[in-house]
Amino acid sequence: MITSIAHVLGTRPNLVKAAPVVAALGDLDQSVLHTGQHYDERLSKVFFDELGLPEPDVNLGVGSGGHAEQTAAVMVGLEREFVRRAPDLVVVYGDVNSTIAAALVAAKLRIPVAHVEAGLRSFDMTMPEEVNRRLTDQLSDLCLVTSPEAIGHLAAEGIPVGRAHLVGNPMIDTLLANLGKFDTGRVRSRYGLPDRYVLATMHRPANVDAPGTAAALVEHLHGVADLVDVVIPVHPRGRANLIAAGLDQHPRVHVLEPLGYIDFIAAVRGAAAVVTDSGGLQEETTILGVPCLTVRPNTERPITITHGTNRLVTFEELVPAARKALGAPETPHRTPPLWDGHAGERIADVIRSWTGVA
Ligand code: UD1
Repeated sequence: MITSIAHVLGTRPNLVKAAPVVAALGDLDQSVLHTGQHYDERLSKVFFDELGLPEPDVNLGVGSGGHAEQTAAVMVGLEREFVRRAPDLVVVYGDVNSTIAAALVAAKLRIPVAHVEAGLRSFDMTMPEEVNRRLTDQLSDLCLVTSPEAIGHLAAEGIPVGRAHLVGNPMIDTLLANLGKFDTGRVRSRYGLPDRYVLATMHRPANVDAPGTAAALVEHLHGVADLVDVVIPVHPRGRANLIAAGLDQHPRVHVLEPLGYIDFIAAVRGAAAVVTDSGGLQEETTILGVPCLTVRPNTERPITITHGTNRLVTFEELVPAARKALGAPETPHRTPPLWDGHAGERIADVIRSWTGVA
C-alpha cells in the first residue's frame, strides 16, 4: 500500500501543474522536492506563495547548466533523497530536465512513477522536451493524460493502454481556481500598460539562443508593435540576445521582468492577442478565449488548435496573422474534454485506486 508520495518540481510550469494535485492528495503523506532548476525568486518562490504550494521539503539547488550537467545534478541529488525518504510513488510533471531525471532515478530504484501530462508529442526530436517526454513515459507506471490523442501516442510507443488515464488538465485547474483574481485593470495600472496590447513571451532555444535568429524575431515583433503595443515579460533565457537585438528600441514595446502567476494571467486575459513559444500558454489562451499565435513549426498540444484559439506561425507569418487576429471580432473556441477544473481530483483518484489507499 502507498503511504508516501514525493512530488518532484523544477521549473515554473511544474509548479502551476502540481498545485491542484498536491491539494487533492492532501490526506496522504506528501513531500515536495524542488530540484532548483529554476531558482530566481520570480520564477519559483512567487509561484509557491501564490499557488498555495507547501514549502519544498528540500531544494537541491542544481541551477543552470548544460543538459548533461543539469540532468546529472538533479539525478545525484534525487537519488540521495529517494533513498533517504523511500517514497512509495514519485510524481513528475511535464517535460523539463528535472522530469526525466526524476523518472530515471526512481525507475532504477524501483520506485513507481506517475507522469502528469503524459503522451504529448511534437514529433520534433530537436526539442529537448520531446526527448524528456518520450523517455519519461517509458519509465512511468501511471501516465496521466491531458488530451485524448495522447493515449494513442503512448500506445504507438508500446505503452500498455491500462497505464494511461485521461484526467484533464491540472494547469487549467489552477487557472479556473484563480479566475476571480485576474484583475486586468490592476495589472494595467501596476505596469503602466495601454488599453490595447499584444502580450508576448519568447524563451525556446530555437527562437532565442542564436543571436541571428533572435534578431530576426525582434524584427518581426517590432512589426507587430507597428500595429499595436507589445508587452513582453522576458524570461531570463532570451534576455541578453533579445535586448542586444534591440527589442526595447521600439517605442511601443514594453519590456517587463518575469511576472508572478496572478499578474501574468491577468495580463494575458486583458491582451488583444498573445504571441508565444510557450507550451502552457497555448492551453491557457484556449480557455481564456484570447487569440494565440505560436511561433513554432509544430505543437505537442494540437487540441489548442482544434478546440482553442491557437495558430502556428512562422516568423514571416507573424505580422499578417497578428493583423488578422486584431481585426477579428472574436475567436471561436470550445473547452477540450475534462479541462473543467477537476483534473487534480481525478489524478488523486487514479493514484488512490492504483495504490489501494482509497
Ligand atoms: C526550462 C525547460 C522548458 C520550459 C521552461 C519554462 C528544459 C530542457 N527546459 O527552460 O521546457 O518551457 O523551463 O520556463 O528543462 N535562468 C535564470 N534563472 C532561473 C532559471 C534559468 O536566469 O531561475 C536562465 C539561465 O541563464 C539558464 C537559462 O535561463 O541558463 C535556461 O534555464 P533552464 O532551466 O536550463 O531552461 P529554460 O530555458 O528555463
